[in-house]
Amino acid sequence: MKAIEIRNKYLEFFKKHGHAVIPSASLIPENDPSVLFTTAGMQPLVPYLLGEKHPEGTRLTDYQKCVRTNDIDEVGDNRHLTYFEMLGNWSLGDYFKEESIKMSFEFLTKELQIPVEKLSVTCFAGDEDCPRDEVSAKVWKEAGILDGHIYFYGKDDNWWIAGEEGPCGPDTEMFYDTGKPACGPDCQPSCDCGKYVEIWNNVFMEYYKDKNGYSKLKQRNVDTGLGLERMTMLLQGKETPFDTELFLPVMEKIQELQKVDNIESRRIIAEHLRSSMMIIADGGRPSNIDRGYILRRLIRRMIRHMNKLQIDLSELSNLIDINVDNLKEMYPELEQNRETIKNVINEEKDKFVKTLTHGEREFQKEMQKAKENGKNEIDANVVFRLYDTYGFPPEVTKELADENDMTVDLKGFEELFKEHQEKSRQGSTQKFKGGLADQNEKTIAYHTATHLLHQALRTVLGDHVKQSGSNITEERLR
Ligand code: SER
Repeated sequence: MKAIEIRNKYLEFFKKHGHAVIPSASLIPENDPSVLFTTAGMQPLVPYLLGEKHPEGTRLTDYQKCVRTNDIDEVGDNRHLTYFEMLGNWSLGDYFKEESIKMSFEFLTKELQIPVEKLSVTCFAGDEDCPRDEVSAKVWKEAGILDGHIYFYGKDDNWWIAGEEGPCGPDTEMFYDTGKPACGPDCQPSCDCGKYVEIWNNVFMEYYKDKNGYSKLKQRNVDTGLGLERMTMLLQGKETPFDTELFLPVMEKIQELQKVDNIESRRIIAEHLRSSMMIIADGGRPSNIDRGYILRRLIRRMIRHMNKLQIDLSELSNLIDINVDNLKEMYPELEQNRETIKNVINEEKDKFVKTLTHGEREFQKEMQKAKENGKNEIDANVVFRLYDTYGFPPEVTKELADENDMTVDLKGFEELFKEHQEKSRQGSTQKFKGGLADQNEKTIAYHTATHLLHQALRTVLGDHVKQSGSNITEERLR
């Protein structure tokens, strides 16, 4: 089954069960400065999980575009992705554990036809904050999950919260047995040997956590998330998401263009390209801070790996076209932004290429110096200088070091980087004092006017116009 068929089946199934299908929110969260990108389907729904009425009712379903970049340097192995799509369904104070689990079981076994022997589930083991989830275990058993396929784990595995504070609760997770041999007698779903792959997470959000601890929410919610790329890969019996139709056309083109063979580099190029394209289509642009900096790192790392495979960088536009053509049915915004995506990525490429060779030379020099001093580590100051002067994202320097059996002081770099960002942020807060921090009738009206102005500009000038920030005070909007 293709990814788009899985998505459609999912939305249809939950529609049949009374859910309103809502559109994916943008990857770039509106009015939520606490996160750089949308990282889960529940994120744009937080106000409704806390009790605000959703205009579409108490049962919702969608596909949500997500970017998670905490594992950016892991991409290249067989499973990490920075961009992924999460299918989700929500109960906002409507159904709870029993109905949620029954629907999940039916979807997996009837709609996707996964044999029940391949499924295992995990439930919350209980602690001082929340009792053991016997209810979920019982419902799973009655639904048909086999004896010995139900596990209980603590907060580390079976509790879900986005970050440190917010709505949260115990969850029940579904695992798919790939059929690989067990890694030992203790091999279980919690083991990451690759035998069991997590496919779906149903969170029973009835708590709120803040610095004072846990309290009960006004309503009992369900928040679920199913990773589309992973499900596609499993149903197709593929080893990695890169072997599915989501990536194959671009992976094959890279292979055709490369003069040096390296599977990890091919995956990094394909993954970072898709991720960058999705971010740009939602209005992201490369810069040196926050989400712009993440986008910059994705593009630059991709370019370095194209160089590593000796692929002519003029092929970038071709690769973008292949991805747009392959993915436009799933994401029409790629087609709408085809030219913008090319312009943004090519412009970033031009900037990076100017400094890349000099930077690599600088790295070689520093490496020699370190070796002469009997050191096997690249100093944080050097990593920072390569970043600051030559635009080298730290993971690029780390990769160069890896290739030369050296390490880098990434922790030291992070500290220097934070200091640097703090300084530029202080500068920009002074410049842009105001924002929406002090809300009143006037600033709220200006905020609305910003949206109207944005739309007017798009209508007159075209869809390439993108708002990527606003600055509002009582006197004016900008
Ligand atoms: N919010 C949960 C997750 O991200 C379920 O969607 O796993």
